[in-house]
Amino acid sequence: MTPDDLRFPPGFLWGAATSSYQIEGSPLADGAGPGIWHRFSHTPGRVRNGDTGDVASDHYRRWAEDVDLMAELGLQSYRLSLAWGRLLPNGVGKPNPKGIDFYARLFDRLLERGIEPMVTLYHWDLPAALDDRGGWLNRDVIHWFTEFAEVAFEAYGDRVTRWATLNEPWVVVDGGYLHGVHAPGHRDLEETAIASHHLLCAHGSAVRAFRARGRGQIGLVVNLEPKYPASDSAEDRAATARAHAYNNWYHVDPPLLGRYPAEMADLFGSTWRNWPADDLALIHQPIDFLGVNYYTRRVVRHDPSQPPFSLGEVPQTDALLMMNGWELFPEGLTRTLLEVRARYGDVPVYVTENGANFYDPPQPLDGRVEDPLRVHALRVNLLAVREAIRRGVDVRGYYAWSLLDNLEWSMGFTLRFGLVHVDYASQGRTIKASGRWYREVIRTHGETLAEPVPGLNV
Ligand code: FCB
Repeated sequence: MTPDDLRFPPGFLWGAATSSYQIEGSPLADGAGPGIWHRFSHTPGRVRNGDTGDVASDHYRRWAEDVDLMAELGLQSYRLSLAWGRLLPNGVGKPNPKGIDFYARLFDRLLERGIEPMVTLYHWDLPAALDDRGGWLNRDVIHWFTEFAEVAFEAYGDRVTRWATLNEPWVVVDGGYLHGVHAPGHRDLEETAIASHHLLCAHGSAVRAFRARGRGQIGLVVNLEPKYPASDSAEDRAATARAHAYNNWYHVDPPLLGRYPAEMADLFGSTWRNWPADDLALIHQPIDFLGVNYYTRRVVRHDPSQPPFSLGEVPQTDALLMMNGWELFPEGLTRTLLEVRARYGDVPVYVTENGANFYDPPQPLDGRVEDPLRVHALRVNLLAVREAIRRGVDVRGYYAWSLLDNLEWSMGFTLRFGLVHVDYASQGRTIKASGRWYREVIRTHGETLAEPVPGLNV
């Protein structure tokens, strides 16, 4: 394709994303209440190498410098999340003015630099005080979350016009309530279904509260990961359909279609409840966009030794794999975006996260970080987005994950995704080759994608 063909549609928004617990550090500063990830990371054995978000990328103290870096990259938008416990230390009740000020100053500075914030309300860091009251398992969480959302809308509604309610509800429940690898670390199938339902009700309730104020756009961010059968056998194909429904449609059908996928009752068996129609009506609020996070695909086989859903994965050993084993698979992104359109119609989409964790050194070498594999990954994924647009999907923007190297949840600091390298010993920042390359993509509105990555033969 020529550079001209690759130009993205007018108004297409270029950004990068982060989340509060992963970058901010200073989790208890200025009166903030601890979140479940603070508690989880301080529990021995939960996070690789005992890493915590106590300092992370020190963004809470270096935010102004980080906005300068965003401006240097030419970002048009910055997707971030709010630490709920900074705004409301107990999760509900009296707001904390210092916590509110932190993001207010950040938004002001972003807007001064012409960078539009996109704000995710919940990127996994529930106040610990609410977890003590049952967290996502307590139906009251629908009201707690709505109260938090209203505080945020009230405080920032004059500056923020693009909001997302939840980040990746599937990961919240699969990691946090089914497999116990994320906070709060539970392992219970019935709880998984309950937490999902409350997350979705909370989403709907916050969207309803937002509509009452009537300014800007609000959506939901999900991670979608296409599934491919390991063989043509009926069993593998059925397993693939189960995995697809569970991982992908489980948290999108209710908000966009007003019902759970039919497969859910089978998957959850006797633990599945007949959820009230009123709840589904609450969940099924019109949203302005769907945020899609995309990283990889899975090749699936039927495996009865893997409870509870008998789903096994077949690693693709001849593919380009990231540090954590994820396969670089750009055609899956085009397929996913086309499937979203086929299933849900013309809902506007933002790719709210996409990125890669190939190896980067802990310190820059001669002041530089060369990361050609990340450049390659971003390039082929962006070409995949461009292809989906050509085929009619209404994709409005793209956010690279991540602006900065950061705490990758239970993997700690072992994985780096940043466009900007963070030397955790000194907190020094260095724009990686991928960051410099992305700046050119933004400047040319995609035309640069025509040029292959120099020095890379993959
Ligand atoms: C997503 C999360 C994000 C980051 C990336 C790598 O699932 O939303 O916080 O961890 O994966």
